[in-house]
Amino acid sequence: MTVEARERTGTLAGRRFVVTGGSRGIGAAVVRLAVAEGADVVFGYQRNADAARELCQEVTKAHPDRICTALPVEVSDQEDVAEFIEGALGALGSIDVLVNNAGISRSSAFTGTPRGEWDELVETNLGGLFNLTQPLVRPMVERGAGAVINLSSVAGLHGSAMQAGYSTTKAGVIGFTKALSKEISGFGVTVNAVAPGLIETDMTAVIPAEYQELVRARIPSGRFGTPRDVAHTVCFLASDRARYITGQVIEIAGGLVL
Ligand SMILES: NC(=O)c1ccc[n+]([C@@H]2O[C@H](COP(=O)([O-])OP(=O)(O)OC[C@H]3O[C@@H](n4cnc5c(N)ncnc54)[C@H](OP(=O)(O)O)[C@@H]3O)[C@@H](O)[C@H]2O)c1
Repeated sequence: MTVEARERTGTLAGRRFVVTGGSRGIGAAVVRLAVAEGADVVFGYQRNADAARELCQEVTKAHPDRICTALPVEVSDQEDVAEFIEGALGALGSIDVLVNNAGISRSSAFTGTPRGEWDELVETNLGGLFNLTQPLVRPMVERGAGAVINLSSVAGLHGSAMQAGYSTTKAGVIGFTKALSKEISGFGVTVNAVAPGLIETDMTAVIPAEYQELVRARIPSGRFGTPRDVAHTVCFLASDRARYITGQVIEIAGGLVL
């Protein structure tokens, strides 16, 4: 399919995706939507092999002509990521789109935050960004085409109380996105971030019900987002329709400002 045809239809036909954290939540929605729009996908998971296998079965049943493969990876471990990338290249040949989605959140008053919690957030949310992006953008730059989409958060834009460590890493994702876009957009590789508000996933399910109600009341759209709400923007940023968008942070938060 030509670039013009892909642009006209907004399709992801022929695009080869790597998505981290694809077994659940937002990552799983990106996997489902990208394959439905014509992409081939390799996604990573950390521990949930059953959920990853079930997602592959579901997606492959719906789109038997597409590749959907799950591989385990610890994103904070550079050697493990190198092995994951080797597996992804084996399945897909080369990679057009990287979605840096895997991430963790932790909540504690900063005055009582153990240093280990801070380090875990940095190693996962920022270490993972380095480990995946560096080896995968090199060939994109050489080929002169590609897209990187990073998961930030409204916490990174506005700061979230009781989440200094998480907010710091998600602000770091934004700095990285803007800097890298300046470095490589001239080679045809776009780099963007999305900043979701509160999305219905396991990550937000742990928020006490009372606090969930308080936040919901402050969301102009009147509801938490769905993983699919985020996946639509991620897939748009991966498509030819978005090829002149780079270095941007798109909020997907139903109007919520923390
Ligand atoms: N949910 C929200 O409201 C929200 C808001 C703003 C931003 N975000 C961001 O969006 C992204 C996805 O969030 P989510 O809510 O979908 O998360 P989630 O439901 O908790 O799922 C996290 C995913 O990341 C994987 N993962 C976690 N730690 C990993 C590690 N060290 N190495 C490899 N994979 C790892 C998990 O794998 P397993 O299934 O194997 O554990 C899972 O697939 C995160 O970066 C998060 O910060 C979320």
